[in-house]
Amino acid sequence: MSNKVLWSGRFSGAPDEGTLAFTSSLSVDSVLAWYDAVGSVAHAKMLVEQKIIPRADGDKIIAGLKDIIAQIEEDSFDFNETLEDVHSNIEFDLTEHIGEAGGRLHTARSRNDQVATDFRMFMRDVVMDSAESLLVLQGALIAKARLNVDTVMPGFTHVQHAQPVSFGFHLMAHVFKLQRDVDRLLDSYKRLNVSPLGSAALAGSTYPIDRQMTARMLGFDGPTHNAMDSVSDRDFALEYSFCAALIMDHLSAMSEELVLWSSQEFGFVEIADAYSTGSSIMPQKKNPDVAELIRGRTASTTGNLMTMLMLLKGLPLSYNRDLQEDKGTVIASYETVTACLSMMAPMIATLSVNKERMLAATSQGFLNATDLADYLVTKGVPFRQAHEIVGKVVRHCIDQNKRIDDLSVAELKKFSAKIGKEVKGFISVQSCMNRRTSYGGTSPASVNSQIEVAEEVANGQVEFCDAERDRMVKVWNDLLRP
Ligand code: ARG
Repeated sequence: MSNKVLWSGRFSGAPDEGTLAFTSSLSVDSVLAWYDAVGSVAHAKMLVEQKIIPRADGDKIIAGLKDIIAQIEEDSFDFNETLEDVHSNIEFDLTEHIGEAGGRLHTARSRNDQVATDFRMFMRDVVMDSAESLLVLQGALIAKARLNVDTVMPGFTHVQHAQPVSFGFHLMAHVFKLQRDVDRLLDSYKRLNVSPLGSAALAGSTYPIDRQMTARMLGFDGPTHNAMDSVSDRDFALEYSFCAALIMDHLSAMSEELVLWSSQEFGFVEIADAYSTGSSIMPQKKNPDVAELIRGRTASTTGNLMTMLMLLKGLPLSYNRDLQEDKGTVIASYETVTACLSMMAPMIATLSVNKERMLAATSQGFLNATDLADYLVTKGVPFRQAHEIVGKVVRHCIDQNKRIDDLSVAELKKFSAKIGKEVKGFISVQSCMNRRTSYGGTSPASVNSQIEVAEEVANGQVEFCDAERDRMVKVWNDLLRP
């Protein structure tokens, strides 16, 4: 390993190779290369505009950086593994190509504000990307829900049959959770999208830098307000870690249902062959491994969130090398979220729904017991009394091994004289479901309005993402291709 570092002057001895290997972050931060070089273009332009470095040197720096950016874009930039990080790689490469002028680039900045800037730029793309992947899954769920607003199935609490709901209603419950996930990501964007560049090591700069200018050139809403905060803040990465962990909690819950529902015991759904796997010994097997792995990988995103929380705990201001550990965990969460969303969306889109099995399941577990009580309420019985009466009906049914629907009107009358023959239609599972017309309820009309609301919200989210993507294209064009 070479001992080429950005800070050799003060040292009389060369760093131990083990130390260099131990402290290197290149394996993780090389993903920041494009952002690093682009951030440097903005910094160099500002240094020229503010007459901090000569224009001729600035021009050389910018031309050299643009070469590097082109190489990074075509994946041909030659990373030197012996250099300690992505920042050293780009600066040494630049100086190698343009000579001494390259040595002026680092005027009025530090790797501390540089890495914070790079990471925020990178995280903007990560946040956008995760939001867009979530929107694709939402689309698949909404499409499936639309086809199933009339599909009756048991609704559960405690995994016990509770009340009849539609499969579409159940799917829409997941949609709204994912919509909040998108909302959270997009909300974090405004805290993320500020520029630490120019905070320098921790205390700001003695040069007449223009932080508003670099912030604008890099598409940030503005500069951060305190240099010391800027080089030590990783809230934005922690927020993403939380968003990722929660997205995975949501996907894990969905996966758990897919696993249960595709079992022989339920048989509510069948996962497409394309998203299932077999057994090496049992020829008959078709296993929901993709869903299980999504559920399993939730462990790591939760772990990564804990890692970020612990990493930031008790750090004295300002920059500490501990902060270097942030990127690996956040990137790991991002990769997991991306991979899991990319599997869940087509798995939902291709899921077959066994409506007969769902309907058959509604005959078990007294799903219409609440509705029989509600029926008595329509006859003037106070709900608490109605609840007691129906409890006795259910007890009777359990003893007789019958369903409520099996009892004749005459038998039902023994529990309450108020029961009339129209009770039969009232307590059919279909009518139990259809009558839940309250806002947010499971009736087909309510679910259709939920779909409308969700689509309107999703359209707004898509518009935000598209506008932001377009804005960034323009930002990069203005900066790099004037
Ligand atoms: N690799 C470092 C990181 O990710 C870059 C900043 C290094 N700064 C320093 N003072 N050692 O945090």
